[in-house]
Amino acid sequence: MIKTWFRTKAIGTVQADTGLRRCLTTADLVFLGIGGIIGAGIFVLTGVAAARDAGPGIVLSFLISGLACTFTALSYAEFAAAVGGSGSAYGYAYAGLGEIVAWVVGWDLFLEYGVATAAVAIGWSGYVRNALSSVGIHLPLAVTQVNIDAIAAWGLGVLGKPVPAAIAAQAATGGFVNVPAAAIILLLSIVLALGVRQSAVFNSLMVVVKLAVIALFIAVAAFHVTPGNWHPFLPFGFHGVMRGAALIFFSYIGFDAVSTAAEETRNPQHSLPIGIIASLLVCTVIYTVVAGLLTSIVPYFTLDTASPVAQSMLSLNYPLVALLIGIGAIIGLTSVMLVLFYGLTRIFLAMARDGLLPDAFAAVNARTRTPVRVILICGLVMACIAGLTPIAYVAELVNIGTLSAFTIVCLGVLVLRRTRPDLKRPFRAPGGPFVPLLGMAFCIYLMTNLPLFTWVRFVVWFVIGLVVYIAYGRRHSRLVAEG
Ligand code: ALA
Repeated sequence: MIKTWFRTKAIGTVQADTGLRRCLTTADLVFLGIGGIIGAGIFVLTGVAAARDAGPGIVLSFLISGLACTFTALSYAEFAAAVGGSGSAYGYAYAGLGEIVAWVVGWDLFLEYGVATAAVAIGWSGYVRNALSSVGIHLPLAVTQVNIDAIAAWGLGVLGKPVPAAIAAQAATGGFVNVPAAAIILLLSIVLALGVRQSAVFNSLMVVVKLAVIALFIAVAAFHVTPGNWHPFLPFGFHGVMRGAALIFFSYIGFDAVSTAAEETRNPQHSLPIGIIASLLVCTVIYTVVAGLLTSIVPYFTLDTASPVAQSMLSLNYPLVALLIGIGAIIGLTSVMLVLFYGLTRIFLAMARDGLLPDAFAAVNARTRTPVRVILICGLVMACIAGLTPIAYVAELVNIGTLSAFTIVCLGVLVLRRTRPDLKRPFRAPGGPFVPLLGMAFCIYLMTNLPLFTWVRFVVWFVIGLVVYIAYGRRHSRLVAEG
């Protein structure tokens, strides 16, 4: 039985026709990467991580996380050019390490793309509510948040039990459904279903706006640098820098989604490595500059707010710039959701084609040449999660799920070089085994810096995944039919 779990899938031709429209260019992929990367991480998490963990040393946190991702990105690029397929890391693990490992990676990617999309939708809803209230339109909290205390108070009421005062106080605002969070996901489902070209154009427009807003921040902040704000540079020591790095790792998630576009790219072997690596490098530079400026224009301990970048401009008395940054953040979060949602559907598609998920997910619409059914099913499920649950509480699972998938990709590169030395590799990560080894070391080290509670939840997720595989995937796998 153990042997069947580790059966590997033959590597197909990278250019095979899979029904999806092959129309994306290298530039589209770079924009796709930037679209998926720059979002909640820089616009929201930087402030929290600087205030609570790293202080001005958040710059180092960004560099360290960026290095971990660079080593991983090089490994991704090698796989993407040689193996291809819309399944990304899931497909690479299937080719190099066997079915059970592939399933675990796919299961982790659901966390990365699915939970992250739902969690970002909730952040998006908060940003939209704040932006609207700043122009005098006040959306009621009751329909723009899921308040866990309101749900608890309601449950206790139904059971006829007394509601503790602390819960009653928190429950006062109400909040059983987050309508904007669910609505944006449903809207993005329509965009994705319409076609990959349309989605790429929409994404590129959003990327241009968010880059313009970041350039505006940099231009204004550069005139207000106060070196005193960088003293002390490491108020929480180097350990704080590493905790910050593990947290803001979230900011880099998304570059890997480029690899899920393999079957829709005109010349994947050429464009995928460029798309993955270039988008990551551009964002690493942007992040380091923004984090450095942010902590030098205002004291790091004032940054623990929901919108630290816009807030810093308000404290410097630039309300218009703050407003534009708020709008840029909303657009940035939208592009992140679009790209991660896109990645999720392509991974589902690949897993369904392999039989590890039901056939219903495997169809590609002949007219739009997109997996309409899988887009609508994923959209509905994520809209329900974002609209009806407090998923933000488990958002930290995204980092650990992604880091574990990244570790397996790096390991897979080393294994595949041994088992298939003959495989044509249009791109090879430089430095022999060092790049994948360093990628693994960095990712594992960042994982050890995540809280114990996150690990416990992750193990629970992993066990559920194994049960699903044993109950369904193992028996329905196409490899069983092929003998
Ligand atoms: N990297 C994406 C963000 O920061 C997930 O929102």
